[in-house]
Amino acid sequence: MAPLTNVDYRDMQGLLRFGYAKLTEACFLLLRIDDPAAAARWLQTAPVSTAEIQNPPPTCALQLAFTQQGLQRLGISPEILNGFSAEFLSGITGEDNRSRRLGDIGANAPEHWYWGGPSGVPDMVAMLYALPGHFDSWKSTIDSGLTHSGFTLLQCLPTSDMGGVEPFGFVDGVSTPTVDWDRKKNPSGDKLTYENITMLGEFVLGYPNEYGEYTGRPKIVDSNADLPDAEDSPGYKDIGRNGTYLVIRQIEQDVRGFWRFIDQQVNSDPTQRQDLAEKIVGRKMSGDSLLPESSQSIPGVGPDLTDIQQNQFTFDDDPDGFRCPFGAHIRRANPRNADFPPGTSSEPLEKLIRILGFGQKTIREDLIASTRFHRLLRRGREYGPKLSPAERLEPAPPNEPPTGLEFVCLNANIGRQFEFIQAAWLNNTKFDGLDSETDPLLGNREPIAGCPASTFSIPVAGTVRHQLQDVPRFTTVRGGAYFFLPGLRALRYLARAARV
Ligand code: HEM
Repeated sequence: MAPLTNVDYRDMQGLLRFGYAKLTEACFLLLRIDDPAAAARWLQTAPVSTAEIQNPPPTCALQLAFTQQGLQRLGISPEILNGFSAEFLSGITGEDNRSRRLGDIGANAPEHWYWGGPSGVPDMVAMLYALPGHFDSWKSTIDSGLTHSGFTLLQCLPTSDMGGVEPFGFVDGVSTPTVDWDRKKNPSGDKLTYENITMLGEFVLGYPNEYGEYTGRPKIVDSNADLPDAEDSPGYKDIGRNGTYLVIRQIEQDVRGFWRFIDQQVNSDPTQRQDLAEKIVGRKMSGDSLLPESSQSIPGVGPDLTDIQQNQFTFDDDPDGFRCPFGAHIRRANPRNADFPPGTSSEPLEKLIRILGFGQKTIREDLIASTRFHRLLRRGREYGPKLSPAERLEPAPPNEPPTGLEFVCLNANIGRQFEFIQAAWLNNTKFDGLDSETDPLLGNREPIAGCPASTFSIPVAGTVRHQLQDVPRFTTVRGGAYFFLPGLRALRYLARAARV
């Protein structure tokens, strides 16, 4: 094993390190490669933004990522292609079984998608970001490079700046893992407490992950290749290092449907309306936590007041779900458990008992342990018009443009991270003691094996839980794809290796 080296930010696309929050104007260009030779030439010098901190900060940024189809179109050899993960090679719509697990059935089924399904998988996405006032010139520079280099624009996914709030009206981008950029974290052993600090290899290929292992990725024996060395395989060059997988999912939001349903449940009482919406999401609209600050500090939660108010908590302080319901979106998306359920000792005998499957105190202890293996770096952007609180309660005027989230996330293992969260936590009726509901924001409400999936349970202290019935679908998937976002050297290498 080669010695661990510092992270080379110049070899990494910036989205891994930055959300580009100040570059509020953005669009994602979905492209087809028509002339692989011309495309490969452009890719060798394309002005892709790196993760290095720039002074002064950049006014614009470009990120590039490829689907499996795109790499194939470039003529990348099967030896390299086969080194990528099975999920990436199959694609988000590649198997019916995957679509079912992800909840992409019924109204969410790929046959209805605007892109990424049978209507066509793009070869590449070009993600453009800019400060207000700089976007148009940046876009026309990139557009002209692309059109003169054999790319065809399939779709432009526009985004809109809603001021850090997603279309339902909640502050977004609050909880994010702290990436162990300095490579100080030791993954070995069981973690008894929830930590926000997460191994670099969970988000970037070519580095150890939370298991202390290197996630599989393409490596080659070619000492002349201008590629990073593979840390775990002496003599190999690493095509994955400093790259990662990018998931994009276009999710349309029925903002009026969401608020009008909630309004009906509370007889239009404004305070109760907001309370119920906050129970559904699991956070206050301001982004603050529904739980009091935890007595124990959580490694990786920043020291500033906002971070503490918003992220210094675990659900150990709310074992009955009275403050944040078990099925609330954020409690499903990150149940904040350590490797052992609360109160479980790490004594060898007790561990053995647990490994053998005995000693579980409640039905809630199974699916939600070990969240450290299921984290995401979210980089989504909103689209469509922002509705005011009053507008949200009115019926939609004719031809209102759609609004929603271009959900974007980065992870080194699509199956264990994005797909696990989506399938086992968000889209599973059997979660944390619940049995007839899925994520209240994202569920497609299709019955699963004949069981209804359209309730939402709110535990109430001292009495039976309150249960919302016939919760409508508030979101619809409109497109999506799995991409590989390469490191800079790998990008140039793949462009040179294109067999065109
Ligand atoms: C239209 C779709 C969605 C909406 C409106 C939405 C909304 C939100 C909001 C308001 C928060 C709380 C603020 C924050 O921590 O940023 C949140 C957190 C989160 N969401 Fe979503 N979300 C959507 C889709 C998804 C999807 C598809 C996933 C994953 C597959 C996801 C995973 C997460 C995660 C991991 C968190 C952070 C939980 C935590 O660590 O506390 N979300 N979302």
